[in-house]
Amino acid sequence: MISYETFGFLPDGREVKLYTLKNEQGACVKISALGATVVSLCVPDKNGALTDVVLGYDTLEEYLQNDGYLGATVGRYCNRIGSSRFTLKGKEYKVTVNDGKNSLHGGVGFSAKIWDATTVSEDAICFSCRSPHGEDGYPANLTAKVLFTLTEDNALCLKYTATADGDTVCNLTNHAYFNLHGGTDTVLSHEFYLAAQKYTDTDAELIPTADVSVEGTAFDFRKAKKIAEPIYDNNFVLDEGMGVKASLYEEKTGILLEMFTDMPGVQVYTSAMLSERQGKNGAKYGKGQGICLETQFPPNGPNRYAEGGFYLSAGETWQSETVYKFGVR
Ligand code: GAL
Repeated sequence: MISYETFGFLPDGREVKLYTLKNEQGACVKISALGATVVSLCVPDKNGALTDVVLGYDTLEEYLQNDGYLGATVGRYCNRIGSSRFTLKGKEYKVTVNDGKNSLHGGVGFSAKIWDATTVSEDAICFSCRSPHGEDGYPANLTAKVLFTLTEDNALCLKYTATADGDTVCNLTNHAYFNLHGGTDTVLSHEFYLAAQKYTDTDAELIPTADVSVEGTAFDFRKAKKIAEPIYDNNFVLDEGMGVKASLYEEKTGILLEMFTDMPGVQVYTSAMLSERQGKNGAKYGKGQGICLETQFPPNGPNRYAEGGFYLSAGETWQSETVYKFGVR
């Protein structure tokens, strides 16, 4: 079932709607049109009590005031573009500088847009936005869509597509901060599994340098282990093939999250830079409060690879799919 209400108004008077998808099990996701942002995601814990497993705020105003991209859809190019420039077909493009000298999550980006929402079926809603040629410095007019589906087996499926009228680059992801306690404690006790033999090392500005083996490092989650330290802000190269690419488990609530994706990588961010702040329902947030599993093509791709799924030309459809499936153990 899908319903909507007014979430609030932007300073320029535009209305922002909040959409609710609910399944027969009572699981429920709320998505704000501002940034196609997952505001809450309630799933049953081991006792059947609904638990909100993503960080967020109670009001639209707090989304406007705070940084951190909580739950937002980010693009045109998520993660970082080094030195805020890249060359495409012999032409250099300068994109919005917003992270030191680099560009993060598209610059002003898609998280700041009001997306249009269209109900597709009882359990699916499609958010779309247009980005004109030159916005944030990126070439070509681009239309992006994210189809959110909440299934009866408590999976949230995100299907992204994008088309453009010329050559460009695209890398879209969702920036939800998962917390299987319901946001009341950090995620350091969560057991984390990641199907990745390699992670991407970075320089001090978090610009990728090289893919290196996780063997013998704190980045080895090939056997599930506690996150323990809020130090992770790296891309991991996911193993190929079907199956669970990542999982998270929390003993007290018994909630298990399994992630499936067709993307080659995931940025794992354990909120190292999440400054202390007031979250929804009176919760206090800070360092280590959530874990983002941002599935994506390689960060800084256009400056690292001559070919890749992040390149998009007229007549093609860029696509990616990620499923976050919830259960209990
Ligand atoms: C992550 C990024 C972090 C930080 C965060 C937002 O995707 O990797 O470095 O910028 O977004 O606060």
